[in-house]
Amino acid sequence: MSKTATPAATPKGSKSKKTTKAVTGTPAAAKSGSKAPGTRVLYAVSEVAPFLSTGGMGQVVGSLPTALMRVDKEMDVRVISPLYRQVRNQFGAGMTLVGSLHVPLSWRSQYCGVYMAERDGITYYFLDNLYYFDRERPYGYLDDGERFAFMSAAVLAVLELIDFVPDIIHAHDWQSALVPIYLKIAYSQRYPQLRTIFTIHNIEYQGRYGMEILGDVFGIDDKDRGIVEYDGDINLMKGAIVCCDRLTTVSPSYAEEVKGVGGFGLEGIIRQNGYKLSGIINGIDYEIYDPETDKVLVEGYNALSLEGKAANKRALQTLFGLPVAPRTPALCMVSRLVTHKGIDLITTIAETLLKDDVQLFILGTGDHQYELFFQDLATLYPDKAAVSIAYNPEISNRIFAGADIMLMPSASEPCGLAQMICCRYGTIPVVRATGGLKDSVQDCRLGDGNGFVFEDYDAEELLSTIRQAVDLYKYREEQWQDLVREAMKRDFRWDLSAKAYRELYFNLLPGGSGVSSQTNT
Ligand code: GLC
Repeated sequence: MSKTATPAATPKGSKSKKTTKAVTGTPAAAKSGSKAPGTRVLYAVSEVAPFLSTGGMGQVVGSLPTALMRVDKEMDVRVISPLYRQVRNQFGAGMTLVGSLHVPLSWRSQYCGVYMAERDGITYYFLDNLYYFDRERPYGYLDDGERFAFMSAAVLAVLELIDFVPDIIHAHDWQSALVPIYLKIAYSQRYPQLRTIFTIHNIEYQGRYGMEILGDVFGIDDKDRGIVEYDGDINLMKGAIVCCDRLTTVSPSYAEEVKGVGGFGLEGIIRQNGYKLSGIINGIDYEIYDPETDKVLVEGYNALSLEGKAANKRALQTLFGLPVAPRTPALCMVSRLVTHKGIDLITTIAETLLKDDVQLFILGTGDHQYELFFQDLATLYPDKAAVSIAYNPEISNRIFAGADIMLMPSASEPCGLAQMICCRYGTIPVVRATGGLKDSVQDCRLGDGNGFVFEDYDAEELLSTIRQAVDLYKYREEQWQDLVREAMKRDFRWDLSAKAYRELYFNLLPGGSGVSSQTNT
C-alpha cells in the first residue's frame, strides 16, 4: 500500500458540487468580496461555543470573532469546525447545506458536506462526515489523529466551495495543527497569499503519533517528515510551530513559560521560532457573563448593590443540598478534574480544610480517580462538601454567583477563564502564580488586588492562603466587600486583546509592518 500519497486535496480532486442552497446570496457571503485585504480570517478549530465546547478553547473561539468585528467593522471573521453528532442534533435544523466534495487524505477519498449557520453576524461552517464525527463524544478515540487530519485537510479543500478564500487561517491547538502543515506541503502554490496563525491553548496535548503512520494516516510524504518529526515521533504541534507564519499563546506569561520547562519538550523548537511568538491574554464575553442580567441567577446584582449575591448564595446551598448558612465561607472549584489544574493539591488538603467552618462546591468532569475522590468526599462530609460531576455552564454560573471564594491552584494554566468569570461575579479567586493566572490576578495582600496568589506548587501554601482568604471573609467584612468590588471592577473584556489580534493579522500581510512590532510576550 502506498504510504506517500498527497495529504490534502489536489486541485483537481476538489471539484465542488454546489447545491442549489449554496452560500451565495447570504449577507455575509455577499460582503466578503468587497473586503479589504487583511480583514478576512477563517478560524479552523475542533470546537466552538455555543455549538460545542468542552473547555476554554471553544469558549474563546466562540467569543473572539464577535469581539474582533466589534473593534473593526471591516473584519470578516468566520469559523470552520466539525459537524459532530451533538452539533447536528442541537443546531442542525438552523443550518443550510452549502455543498459537498471529496477530500483526499493519503489513499482515502472521504465525503465532506459543508453546512453553514449564521449567529450574531458570524458565519460558521460545519464539516460533515458521519464516519468521523457522528460519535458519542467529540474526542477520545483511537483514530483522533485521522479524524482531525481529515478536518484539517477539509478546511483547505473547501475554501472555493464556501466561496471564502481568507487572507489568514487562524488554527488552534493540535487538532488543527495540520492546517498550516498541509498548506505548506500541498497548497502553497494554489494559495500563495494565504497566511496562517497557530494558537497554543494548551501545549500538553501535542498530537503525538508513531512515525509509521506518517504516510498512511496523515498522507505526508517521506521527504517532508522533518516538518513533523520530533524526538523520533510525529508531533503535529511541532509541525504547526514550524510552518505557521505567527505563533501565539493565550497569555504573555505563558508565552514565556513555553520557552522553558513549561514547553513540555517543545521548548527548543519554540525558542527557535521565538521571533514569531506572542502572548495575548484571552478575554470573556461581558454580555454572557453579567451578574445583572444572567437569567440563571435567582437575583441580579452589580458592584454597587451586592445584596443579590446573598440570595444567590442561598440558592446555591439549596441547589446542592448543603445547609443554608449565610456567613459560612462558600468555596468553589469549577474545573476540569485533571492533574495540571492542581487537583492533587486540593485532594491533599481537602479533609483538613473541611474541619474548618467552610463549605466546598465542586463542578467538573475529568480523571476517574478525581471524580471518585470528590464523590467520596461529599459522602463523608454531607454538610460541607457537594459535588456535581458534570460540565454545565448554567450551574457553573450559579456557582460563580453564589460562592465567596474560587480555588484555582493550577500547576500550569495557559490563560484560564474561571478566574476572570468569578471576578465578574464578585467571587474572589485563590490562584497559583502561573501563566494567565499570574497575568490576571493580583494579590490583595500586597496592595490593590483582586484575589489571593500563592507561588509554589505546595499543598501547605495553598491551605494557608485559603485560610487567609477565609479569615478576611469572616472577620473583616468591610475589607472583604471592598475586595469584592475591586474584583468586579477589573476589566477582562475582549476589546484590548481583540485589537492585539487585529494588529497581528494586519502586520502579517504584504505591506504589514513585520514580525515584532506589537508582540507582547
Ligand atoms: C485551555 C487552557 C486554558 C485556556 C483555554 C482557552 O483550556 O488550559 O488555560 O484559558 O485553553 O485559551
